[in-house]
Amino acid sequence: MTPHLLSAADLSLDDATLILDTADELARLSDRPVKKLPTLRGRTVVNLFFEDSTRTRISFEAAAKRLSADVINFSAKGSSVSKGESLKDTALTLEAMGADAVVIRHGASGAPHTLAHSGWIGGSIVNAGDGTHEHATQALLDAFTMRKHLTTLAGRKVVVVGDVLHSRVARSNVLLLSTLGADVTLVAPPTLLPVGVGSWPCNFSYDLDASLPGADAVMMLRVQQERMNAAFFPSVREYSRRYGLDGDRMARLPDHAIVMHPGPMNRGLEITAEVADSDRAVIVEQVTNGVSVRMAVLYLLLGGSDSALGAVE
Ligand code: CP
Repeated sequence: MTPHLLSAADLSLDDATLILDTADELARLSDRPVKKLPTLRGRTVVNLFFEDSTRTRISFEAAAKRLSADVINFSAKGSSVSKGESLKDTALTLEAMGADAVVIRHGASGAPHTLAHSGWIGGSIVNAGDGTHEHATQALLDAFTMRKHLTTLAGRKVVVVGDVLHSRVARSNVLLLSTLGADVTLVAPPTLLPVGVGSWPCNFSYDLDASLPGADAVMMLRVQQERMNAAFFPSVREYSRRYGLDGDRMARLPDHAIVMHPGPMNRGLEITAEVADSDRAVIVEQVTNGVSVRMAVLYLLLGGSDSALGAVE
């Protein structure tokens, strides 16, 4: 692997498979009374979050701690960023404290690339979500979850539904799932598909009901109203009627199909509570799997080249 994880596009099939296999091994730790390995003892992981997060920040913290790394949590709110400190000066401060890896979430697309290529920080940079661009570890944990339920991604039909335009999760998933051999279809109203989506390695459709038959996994996307500065659909009711996943639509899926959502969910908008809380929904499991996948990413980036099995046993 490269020293950074910035984009799902950077992962070859071998890289992605190594991360997923390593996560599989590390997941075995969670069945043990002591869920900790000494692997990253003496290393420092900084969680540098300029945007809000629940799942990603907590799971990176849990992942680093389970590998015995020292963890520094930095939130822009309450820091000197609010006094106007630049990304460069923030990065130089972290470098001065000896960060071995910086996990960054930023509202600006490309901020992790800037950190990785600036020379301000010597350690590994991990993209934990940048603007509307990418969220590579979310795609990895989604692929991990699908692989657990569907055995393989090769040839599987994955339908990704909703606000693709503002979704870094959708872009990373399309890139990673296509590398893993899945057949991905994006479904959204025309206003919520990005310009140029025709060149992405996937299909796209405006018709959810026509896209669901034969789906192995359906991934509902959050409608990101905080990023919308205009009306992208006539009303919430209209959106839910055409693009929401409710009990009736779920009942038309194949028996083995799973329902996913990266969270946080808008219950009642893109997904009903009935679906979110159903046996088919693997949304909470996605969060659990995020810890193992992020452990694998940190382990591999910070020097673990051998099988993690040796570390677990
Ligand atoms: N899926 C995801 O990125 O959730 P958070 O914003 O809570 O980290």
